[in-house]
Amino acid sequence: MGQTLCICSRGSITIDNKRYYFIQKLDEGGFSYVDLVEGVQDGRFYALKRILCHDREGRQEAQTEVEMHRLFSHPNILGLAGHTFIERGGKSEAWILLPYVQKGSLWSVLEKLRDKGSFMPERRILKVLQGICSGLKAMHDRGYAHRDLKPTNVLLEEDDRPLLMDLGSMNRSRMEVKGTREAMTVQDWAAQRCTISYRAPELFNVESHCVIDDRTDIWSLGCVLYSMMFLEGPYDMVFQKGDSVALAVQNPVTIPQPCSYSEGLQNLLRSIMVSNPQERPDVNWILDQIQDMTCSSPNTQTNMV
Ligand SMILES: Nc1ncnc2c1ncn2[C@@H]1O[C@H](COP(=O)(O)OP(=O)(O)O)[C@@H](O)[C@H]1O
Ligand SMILES: [Mg+2]
Repeated sequence: MGQTLCICSRGSITIDNKRYYFIQKLDEGGFSYVDLVEGVQDGRFYALKRILCHDREGRQEAQTEVEMHRLFSHPNILGLAGHTFIERGGKSEAWILLPYVQKGSLWSVLEKLRDKGSFMPERRILKVLQGICSGLKAMHDRGYAHRDLKPTNVLLEEDDRPLLMDLGSMNRSRMEVKGTREAMTVQDWAAQRCTISYRAPELFNVESHCVIDDRTDIWSLGCVLYSMMFLEGPYDMVFQKGDSVALAVQNPVTIPQPCSYSEGLQNLLRSIMVSNPQERPDVNWILDQIQDMTCSSPNTQTNMV
């Protein structure tokens, strides 16, 4: 809180020798604050994410988040406009400057639809899903996994082009677990970095000898698809009621009925949200399915909700 006031009273902040005015607060999380700022020189809007780094490890994690943005230049992955580290009284803060996306997160769009008693038409769902898959494919193809995919970590451009963001949990997709100690380390990491109601089943009870890979993202992607269809996450209620998400994800996903979406879309959701990661499809398979569904005859198109 104090930091925000600090920026206000100073009027402007400087990152990479460029000045920015504080406009307003956008979001406040556990360890990060996101503010809307305006570039003094270019007049453009940016989102400034400030992460409080409590120790060396926290600083390293923020550094990784910056590097992950830099690693990709893709229409469905949010780019980086600049960054800096601020040292204050022995504590450090990572400042990550990102292009501002006015429409906000996919979650905010879903909330608005829910408030209006509206829904997302199937074609729109497929379009957004395709964009998210393209971003994920770019990550997976280079051997990385997002690990915290959820509707609040996807921004939507005006034309509904999704942008994957919040790359702070990203790491190499293949994690080989050898022994109980390593399994506990991965499980503890997941408990901290992968949001519980979007967390893949294999991350709740990590087996002593196993390989965790990019299919954790596929599970989360299924949860995102479900959210677009039903305007809430499949395990949001389970979590809110205080029931065990770890247990719930072992059962096949329940699709609320009656459901106005096509059988094709419902089946796609079922085939993505498979508890056993070995039986879960990869992102290429999902992209093919979306392609088939969007290329179906004009007749089918008009029947879509
Ligand atoms: N570039 C941006 N444009 C618009 N809104 C943003 C932007 N970056 C972040 N936000 C908003 O701030 C929220 C938190 O940002 P995020 O990077 O996910 O932080 P955290 O790591 O705390 O979850 C997002 O869900 C979104 O609503
Ligand atoms: Mg986030």
